[in-house]
Amino acid sequence: VAPLKVGIAGLGTVGAEVVRLIETQARVLAGRSGRGIRVVAVTARSKAKKRGIDLRGVEWARDPMALATHPEVDCFVELMGGAGDPALSAVEAALNAGKSVVTANKALLAKHGIKLAKAAEKHGGALNFEAAVGAAIPVIKTLREGLAGTGIDRVYGILNGTCNYILTRMEQEGLSFAECLKDAQRLGYAEANPSFDVDGHDTAQKLAILASLAFGTKVAQSAVYVEGISSIAPEDLRAAADLGYRVKLLGVAVRTAKGIEQRVHPTMVPKTSSIAQVMGVTNAVTIDGEGIPPITLVGPGAGGAATASAVVADIADVARGIRANPFGRPIAQLRDTKKAPMERH
Ligand code: NDP
Ligand code: HSE
Repeated sequence: VAPLKVGIAGLGTVGAEVVRLIETQARVLAGRSGRGIRVVAVTARSKAKKRGIDLRGVEWARDPMALATHPEVDCFVELMGGAGDPALSAVEAALNAGKSVVTANKALLAKHGIKLAKAAEKHGGALNFEAAVGAAIPVIKTLREGLAGTGIDRVYGILNGTCNYILTRMEQEGLSFAECLKDAQRLGYAEANPSFDVDGHDTAQKLAILASLAFGTKVAQSAVYVEGISSIAPEDLRAAADLGYRVKLLGVAVRTAKGIEQRVHPTMVPKTSSIAQVMGVTNAVTIDGEGIPPITLVGPGAGGAATASAVVADIADVARGIRANPFGRPIAQLRDTKKAPMERH
């Protein structure tokens, strides 16, 4: 069987790790996929930048669009970030050309997910984005496939590694917000514009994606109430601790009589609760379903290696010919978030 030919746009924290993982795990991936996976072309802003990865024999494409429409590329992997161009037009072009797309870009999906899923549906390519929420935690597949037969009432949790890392270090070490954020950036956890993390927008984007999968509604970041953590100081955390609480930035999506309520804000959680034990860059997502006790998934929520592991799993699914509805159902069946009726869907 011919190998799956992959083109990767973006060779930063995540992209470089994906190139490395495809090489180091080649045999395991070929065994699981039934065919090889080969990176045939890549692109980034700077061709000259040292990245510590072996790109010998790999073509350097002129720009993301050239890579997305490259005749040799079967699967376009978008790891540049951003809800606009070049990510948007390149992903659209790849899908319109019938190629499969793998991305970790929650900003793009929260804003244009439905349009992109329609293009995938129309032209037959896969649109996989496991890494977009919870990095290595397989939460997209859990909602889309594992819980496909379960009515879901609520999905909530800690969805941003940078914020949880900052809150943890501020509380445990009394460090300032700015110092902790700098470390999160150095470790590759933060977004290119870290205000997306600390102002809660990254959590809102992830929550909007989870809510769509959980409730069968259209992704709508604009329907999420958002408050971040940038005004929290170490003394606030100490005051909460004195009362027996810890502060966490939570994203919560609940099915209500009026539709799907989605909110992101710092929350005081009892120190003894399980969510309070989630520290550092770790994420945790709890799903409350009909007739089953809550399911909680916990794991590394950011960082190159953790994110690359989910990206590579998505690429392996493409190699195996697995093609799911990106948001769990045909687009025509997804309802508007605001108008969603109260019954389970
Ligand atoms: P980085 O900023 O580390 O890397 C971005 C890459 O994209 C760089 O290689 C950059 O090129 C390239 N790039 C940016 N703009 C352009 C452009 N206009 N044309 C061509 N290439 C471009 O980001 P990350 O690797 O951290 O994140 C990538 C994606 O993964 C984002 O969508 C992010 O939200 C998502 N993500 C990140 C996680 C993380 O922990 N870091 C976790 C989960 C998802 P150059 O190197 O030359 O500057
Ligand atoms: N900046 C994001 C975070 C990356 O800190 O959670 C993972 O999506």
